[in-house]
Parts: sequence; C-alpha cells; structure tokens
Amino acid sequence: SRSIDLAVIPGDGIGQEVVAQGLKVLNAVLPEDVKLETKEYDFGARRYHASGETLTDADLADLKAHDAILLGAIGDPSVPSGVLERGFLLKLRFAFDHHVNLRPSRLLPGVATPLAGQPEIDFVVVREGTEGPYTGNGGTIRKGTPHEVATEVSVNTAFGVERVVRDAFARAQARPRKKLTLVHKNNVLAFAGHLWTNVFNKVAEEFPEVTTDYIHVDAATIYLVTDPGRFDVIVTDNLFGDIITDLAAAVSGGIGVAASGNINPSREFPSMFEPVHGSAPDIAGQGKADPTATVLSVALLLRHLGYDDEASRVEGAVSADLGARGDSRRTTDEIGTALAVRVAG
Ligand code: IPM
Ligand code: MN
Repeated sequence: SRSIDLAVIPGDGIGQEVVAQGLKVLNAVLPEDVKLETKEYDFGARRYHASGETLTDADLADLKAHDAILLGAIGDPSVPSGVLERGFLLKLRFAFDHHVNLRPSRLLPGVATPLAGQPEIDFVVVREGTEGPYTGNGGTIRKGTPHEVATEVSVNTAFGVERVVRDAFARAQARPRKKLTLVHKNNVLAFAGHLWTNVFNKVAEEFPEVTTDYIHVDAATIYLVTDPGRFDVIVTDNLFGDIITDLAAAVSGGIGVAASGNINPSREFPSMFEPVHGSAPDIAGQGKADPTATVLSVALLLRHLGYDDEASRVEGAVSADLGARGDSRRTTDEIGTALAVRVAG
C-alpha cells in the first residue's frame, strides 16, 4: 500500500494557521489506501530563542528521512534580520540541493489583479535555487570605514545551470504552449550571461518542439505587467527569480495565492513546499490569513510525489472556491474547511 511520510514545519506567525488548513485538505484528498504520516518540527523563532539553534546537522538528518516537507513560514521581528533566512531557509535549500525553485503564477477566476482587464496569466517560473548570489561567496575589507569594499560573488556552474535549464525545458515540453523564456542580463553580466545563454541554446537542441525566447530581466518586469500572456515557462537565476516571482505573485492575485516548491527532482533529498508569503506577524493568531497559497503548495507536493489526480483536484477546488468566494470575508478555517469539502466531494 502507498504512504506519504511528511515533515511538517508550521514555523512562525501565520505559518501555524495556514499549515493546519493545508493538512486538512491533504487528508481530505488522499484516497483511503494512502497512509499519511506526519511529524511536526518546531523550527523558527521560538526554537531560536530557546536554544540559539536554527537548523542543526541532526535536524537535517531527521528531515532527510521524510518523503517531503511542508513549510508554513519562518521569520519573526524578534529575530535579527537574516538569521533565520540564512540559518534555516537557505541552509535547508542548499543542504537538500533544492535546485529547482518552482513558482507557478495563474490568475484564477474571481481573483483581483492590479492589471487592466483580466489578462490570461498562466506561467511558471523555474528559479535556480542553489547558486547565483545566494551562496554566501563574498567578503568585506575595511569594514565600517569610508573605504569599505564588499563583494558578493554570483556563482554559476555549468552543472548547476544545465540541470535547471534542462528541468525547465522538460516542464515547457509538457505544457500545451511549449514555450521557454530565459531571463537574465547577459548584456551586462557577461560571464554568467554567457554560461546561461550557451547552456540554454545547447539544451534547446534536445527539445525541438519547445519555442525559445530570451529577455533581459529589466524588460521582463515590464512584460510581466504589460503582457504576462507571453510567458509560459521562465527559467532564471536565483536572485532574478526571487525578484520576478514577487512581481509575478503581485500581478496574479498576490502572495495570498502564490505557491512554491523547493524541489530536488532526483528525490535524493526531500523537496519542500511552502507558500511564497512570509509569517505576517501583524495578522498572526487572528484566524484571517488566507491558507490558499499553502493549499496550492500542497498540490505541488502531491504532483511531485506522483499524485497527479489528487493535485489536480486540489487545484480545481481552489479555482472553484475562489470563483465562488465573491466579496465574502471568511476565516482561515472556513476557507480550509470549504476546500477540504470540495476535494472530498
Ligand atoms: C523567498 C524569500 C527568500 C529568498 C528569503 C527569505 C531568503 O524571499 O523564498 O523568495 O530570497 O529566497
Ligand atoms: Mn523572495
């Protein structure tokens, strides 16, 4: 019989509330013969204050044993900026080699967009997750003086670029429009730009059905607002991907509905699924956080583990729910419960 062994990290702030709804929907959608086991971990601000720890080697060994990880949000104003970001989130992405950071954007029915009209938005950003300027490869000299020098080296390896580009081509190939856009800044970042462009063009030969395109990242921010319909799959580096996926979320309904997967496609390590939004301490504990992004992250998790039908049912439930929601304000629990009813029914 089938089983899913899931690590659950509710984290801080609204993370607790939204993860509870994600699990509710997951339980409701899984067929009876699938055994779901969950183990909760207490990473985040409380653990940091209690022990000074963010994520130890022993924690990583524990997490590694699971099939996948569901994360709410990590971060709290009581912890100095950067400590949990680097000490937990980035550490985990790097340790588990989450090189495909998958961030779909779909403008769903009934969802407001700041864009004029109701444009067709249905694209997915494949953001590289383990390289670029995120590796901590840099340094400072003459720190704190008027002559301080700081470097932040963007690390791009042929291996790292090729595997994420190939993943993006495969995803484009599997979609109806079969189009892949490389987003970079190869007119200025000549070294990394050369590597990305070369690898992209080389891998393109293996995917003759995929239409390819290239856009500089600054121009991409224009098109994401003026013509988002031109995008199907985007592949880009870690930092460009960080920035454009916030913009992508903003144009397609906001971070309340933006889901993401930190994926290790080889399954050598568990992949981690999380809403793009943060812990929102200002509204934590009030039962008004929108769990939709977490529920859509659960759909990505299901698809990653091979439960395609269940993933589609969750996405279908979210579309139907958003379409029916109108202006009514509902609590976190009400939305989660409504979605659980829909996926079960
Ligand atoms: C994200 C976040 C993280 C990132 C931060 C919190 C380190 O902004 O998941 O997009 O930059 O990747
Ligand atoms: Mn970000």
